[in-house]
Amino acid sequence: MFRLICLAIGYAIGCIQTAFIMGKLCKTDLSKKGSGNLGTTNALRVLGFKAGAVTFIGDILKGVVSFLVASWIFPDQAFLAGIYGCAGTILGHDFPFYLHFKGGKGIAATIGMVLCIGLTQSWQLLAVSYVIGLGAAVLTKYISVGSILFSICICASAWVFGLPMEAAVVLTALSALALWKHRSNMKRLLEGNENKFTLTKKV
Ligand code: G3P
Repeated sequence: MFRLICLAIGYAIGCIQTAFIMGKLCKTDLSKKGSGNLGTTNALRVLGFKAGAVTFIGDILKGVVSFLVASWIFPDQAFLAGIYGCAGTILGHDFPFYLHFKGGKGIAATIGMVLCIGLTQSWQLLAVSYVIGLGAAVLTKYISVGSILFSICICASAWVFGLPMEAAVVLTALSALALWKHRSNMKRLLEGNENKFTLTKKV
């Protein structure tokens, strides 16, 4: 039962769709511009640096807040509750009910979740996923490549560094979801027309 409660709380937090809100404030429908994704990269691309930065921080905070709230409500199962809270947040971010279930790809919220995992359970998972994810994005200049490798590292690290079995299973499912959400990016990468990272508006 505690799992469902954490998922529900997380989903409610995840539904605060920062990119959508920033788009509204800037009078732009982000779902119809750039990649159409309601996330940091597209906010940066379409709305510019400030809106992109606010979106990034807002989405990271969603992951952190849902982990903390779920852990606080269920202190006896604090870590697992936090993981389920974050899973709910990623689902809410990716599939907000009031936007016909069309949201983002959940990477910034996952960055927040990994921060909490690093501080409470496995600094190794944090180090490996952050270094490889960030390194890949910087070296290739494709945020999507960084996001994809970041997701794969979380899944692999969860098993390699011995996280509790149920948490590792949930993280594996979240990694699979992130890869599925990046299927259009993978197609563009293979076709050689993926968007390169830029700090200035491109659309
Ligand atoms: O996390 C999203 C990023 O990896 C790709 O975003 O807008 O280029 O599809 P976008």
